[in-house]
Amino acid sequence: MSKAKRVPHILISEADLQRRVEELAREIDRDYATCERLIAIGVLKGSVFFMVDLLKLVNVPVQVDFFQTSSYGEGTEPGEVRIRKDIDLSIRGADVLLIEDIVDTGYTLRTILDLLRFRGAKSVKLCALLDKVERREVEVPIDYRGFEIEDKFVVGYGLDYADFYRDLPYIGIYEGDGGDA
Ligand code: IMP
Repeated sequence: MSKAKRVPHILISEADLQRRVEELAREIDRDYATCERLIAIGVLKGSVFFMVDLLKLVNVPVQVDFFQTSSYGEGTEPGEVRIRKDIDLSIRGADVLLIEDIVDTGYTLRTILDLLRFRGAKSVKLCALLDKVERREVEVPIDYRGFEIEDKFVVGYGLDYADFYRDLPYIGIYEGDGGDA
């Protein structure tokens, strides 16, 4: 089955994603032009595709690190976020750019942002590709936002359903196991 047939409803095309990623990279370059030490921290696994494309277009020198948090359906209560993999770098005194695929309820990012500030980062900003703003339960300031989307379960460009679909080059609406999905 070809990738294009797996998720029928394309919400954000590959071309639109690439255009927006380029715009975000230009904003980041402008804002961090005089920065001494920038660390980009991705949240595994969903942010990886976005982060790679973004950082290839950012010209400011950047160190790279990753968090991994527990996701839905792994014995966690709503709002309870566990860190499964911590970052390796010290962030004390550094400007940190946290990169995430999607902000949904906001609990994951809220937890990580608080932790990064507690560890003495000079600044912490958030870059999120997608913002499902209707679902928000805790406030999370998004400094660089790719797209605001409606409350639908989406896959592709890093986002998964049961770890499938991450490799799609576009964002599609997941419509269940029936039909063409
Ligand atoms: P939050 O803590 O509720 O904001 O959840 C953020 C995480 O939930 C994201 O990093 C994704 O892993 C996952 N998530 C939320 N909405 C979706 C979706 O529509 N598709 C795939 N994963 C999602």
